[in-house]
Amino acid sequence: MSKQHGFYIQLISIHGLIRAHNLELGRDADTGGQIKYVLELATALAQHPDVERVDLLTRQVFSNKLDPGYATQTEPLAKGANIVRLACGPKRYLRKEALWPYLDSFADATLQHVKKIGRIPDLIHSHYADAGYVASAVSSLLSVPMVHTGHSLGRVKRQRLLDKGLRAHAIETQYAMTQRIEAEEMALDNAAAVIASTQQEVEEQYEIYDNYTPKRISVIPPGVDLTRFSPPTSLRKNTSIEAELSRFLKDPDKPMVLTISRADPRKNIATLVRAYGENQALRKKANLVIVAGEREDIMSMEKTSRRVLQELLLLIDYYDLHGLVAYPKKHRADDVPELYRLAAQSRGVFVNPALTEPFGLTLLEAAASGLPIIAPNDGGPRDILAHCKNGVLIDPLDSKNMSVQILKAISNKATWQQWSLNGIAGVAQHYTWTGHVDSYINIVKERISKHQQATRTVVAKSRLATAERLLVCDIDNTLVGDNAALRKLSDQLRCMGDRVAFGVATGRTIESTLRELRKWGAPTPDVFITSVGSEIRYGSKLTEDFGWQQHNDYRWQPRAVYDAMREFSGLKLQHSGEQRRHKISFNVDPKKAPKIREIRQHLRQKDIHVKLIYSHQAYLDILPIRTSKGTAVRHVALKWGFPLDQVLVAGDSGNDEEMLSGHTLGVVVGNHSPELKKLRGREQIYFAEGQYAEGVLEGIQHYGFLDKNPTR
Ligand code: GLC
Ligand code: MG
Repeated sequence: MSKQHGFYIQLISIHGLIRAHNLELGRDADTGGQIKYVLELATALAQHPDVERVDLLTRQVFSNKLDPGYATQTEPLAKGANIVRLACGPKRYLRKEALWPYLDSFADATLQHVKKIGRIPDLIHSHYADAGYVASAVSSLLSVPMVHTGHSLGRVKRQRLLDKGLRAHAIETQYAMTQRIEAEEMALDNAAAVIASTQQEVEEQYEIYDNYTPKRISVIPPGVDLTRFSPPTSLRKNTSIEAELSRFLKDPDKPMVLTISRADPRKNIATLVRAYGENQALRKKANLVIVAGEREDIMSMEKTSRRVLQELLLLIDYYDLHGLVAYPKKHRADDVPELYRLAAQSRGVFVNPALTEPFGLTLLEAAASGLPIIAPNDGGPRDILAHCKNGVLIDPLDSKNMSVQILKAISNKATWQQWSLNGIAGVAQHYTWTGHVDSYINIVKERISKHQQATRTVVAKSRLATAERLLVCDIDNTLVGDNAALRKLSDQLRCMGDRVAFGVATGRTIESTLRELRKWGAPTPDVFITSVGSEIRYGSKLTEDFGWQQHNDYRWQPRAVYDAMREFSGLKLQHSGEQRRHKISFNVDPKKAPKIREIRQHLRQKDIHVKLIYSHQAYLDILPIRTSKGTAVRHVALKWGFPLDQVLVAGDSGNDEEMLSGHTLGVVVGNHSPELKKLRGREQIYFAEGQYAEGVLEGIQHYGFLDKNPTR
């Protein structure tokens, strides 16, 4: 695949602070590992020969406390990769738990970005629950496959917090947990593939989700930036850390048993000291080097680390390990790669005695340095050793066996050599971003082509995302009524290809709309506005616009409407199929029924706020206050990025009035009903002579709507 026709991938990672250089990792709780991960992934993806373009979409933040760069719309990241910042909710920085109300607007901004660049992504990859929510919506609207990575999962976090003794209610208010878990379920529901870092993550985390489908989950470990970690060269430098170690060690040239971790009880350093202290042969053969963070004054440290370090010092004294164990107080960042190299050079071993290890970055760093590893039999190490075959798994609570394994590893020269080489090769093969991206593209390619096959037969890729203009027609007495004219209109639309999207806006239900369009052989709409604007659906999958449903709920009290309307005569409820979640419709007997004005007043006095729409002197529709074909057309235009003067609307009766007025290009067909007469002379409403679709064609002509450069 040549780069010009390569994939366009959108990564979505909404929260935290993302920029191309000098990452502010740790600045706040949301700017951590995930941020580094998505940036490295975006960069590596862009380098793959099958990938042409990568946009990493995140939230735009304006704050004078922060780097103004976080407000920049587009920031280049690497060749073919950009960070794209989209406006979403308030301008200021928000922690991720506060983003939920604004995610629909992030989804709309994503659609507008697509319109702006004129290209639909081949794949959307969401990171974390918030992006999963957005990607679920956008991928279904655009009809493109979606991939999801959870990074961490709400159900697991909730359990951990409950175990810690937090109340369910407190967890809910602080972490918006229900929303998060619901978004995760939704993402799993929609994703063509889920990418996890370890097998354990799949088994222990995803498994507890309703939408757990193991065959859709692929384990691809993240790439590790291993440029800093490499095996020792024959040139031996006298490093400062070496000098530091020699302050502790009687015989610094002995093989080094190295451990590096935080001073955290779960890291279980004490068991390693016991293992070493109790095994005389090991004490004779090797030194123990413990790098457990940095310390100034142990007595003034917080309790958990203090206890770990106190125990360590007591054990060293108890086993009388003076001269055999080094536990430097301080080290520089550059000392760490040097430590692994020193240990490898001494033909030592790296030991991770942690009680649990979901991933195990230090093991990879050691492996890349040519240092064999001994690690707990847990998720991360199991995967690493399966790939690299450069050491052994142990039970972290069994100090005796631990010491035996360490001694074996440093005693058998041939095995040591093999493990050392295996580790270097295994990391290069399995834990680089290039390797990650190769596996990723293999998986994704298959999903994209499956999706394309599926869409070729059933679902057309939505034209809404890229078309320049939108034609919206009412159905009865506008689009249909004159067969020959409808044919002409269909032909003209077909000639426009993807440049013009087509929609219908009707009082009919979706079911009856589909039937009617089929009956007339009308062109297939990209958007269906039905039940007088109260329902919107997209594409041949008829994806519902849920945002619109929510919008319609505003102040909507259908029970109260039914009750209040009972008092009038001359109004008869239409049959039950016409009564919808957001539409109550009556047949009107104009001789007996009260004036619309009176009905409106009556409802208002009862504190019922609705929209009343009267058509053909025969129908009365009651809709939520913000709903009509007009607001629905505007919603669609806004969502998909059509300026209103690139939207032509055509209609014939009262329920079309709102979509005809305003900035849209309005066309009233010749056979219109009397209630539209009052629109005559209004700006941008063209009254055609022609009837039905002939009138629509006349309007199209009038506005030059299908010309290359429309006159207006
Ligand atoms: C369609 C609908 C009906 C509605 C009328 C006017 O005929 O089926 O429910 O009252 O349009 O909008
Ligand atoms: Mg009509």
